[in-house]
Amino acid sequence: MAIERTFSILKPDATERNLTGAINALIEKAGLRIVAQKRVQMTREQAETFYAIHKARPFFGELVPTMTAGPVVVQVLEGEDAIINYRDVLGATDPAKAARGTIRKEFALSLGENSAHGSDSPETALAEIAQWFSGNEIVG
Ligand code: RTP
Ligand code: MG
Repeated sequence: MAIERTFSILKPDATERNLTGAINALIEKAGLRIVAQKRVQMTREQAETFYAIHKARPFFGELVPTMTAGPVVVQVLEGEDAIINYRDVLGATDPAKAARGTIRKEFALSLGENSAHGSDSPETALAEIAQWFSGNEIVG
């Protein structure tokens, strides 16, 4: 087990429904520490950069407007095996397939409006954290 950091976004559907605290409670219950957090309005350019890996996918056209539809909360989470741990806490991408007790099962509205994002590997975690936070904004 290693202490890792992962990057999280509470998506516009979650901030719209005032779910920041409820989702943060599940994050903390899973043993993850929120070591950086800020609420921002993503620009189209920022969302396109963030999800550039999905540019060729058919859902990209919906993904960017969904992420810019309202404010998001960007976070750095720290803990043992934080990347895989947070993916487990999130649950499956499609809330209909997510396990009970996961963020997406409890809160997501649909595949597109699925309430939260988590990095999928150490490499993406590093790159995503660097897109949104400078080193002195992260306090472990
Ligand atoms: P995320 O990056 O947001 O944490 O989600 P994920 O890893 O579980 O899923 P990913 O494959 O990276 O997809 C990114 C987001 O795109 C939306 N999506 N829509 N219509 C579709 O078939 C489809 N597939 C994915 C989801 O909102 C997903 O979170
Ligand atoms: Mg992903």
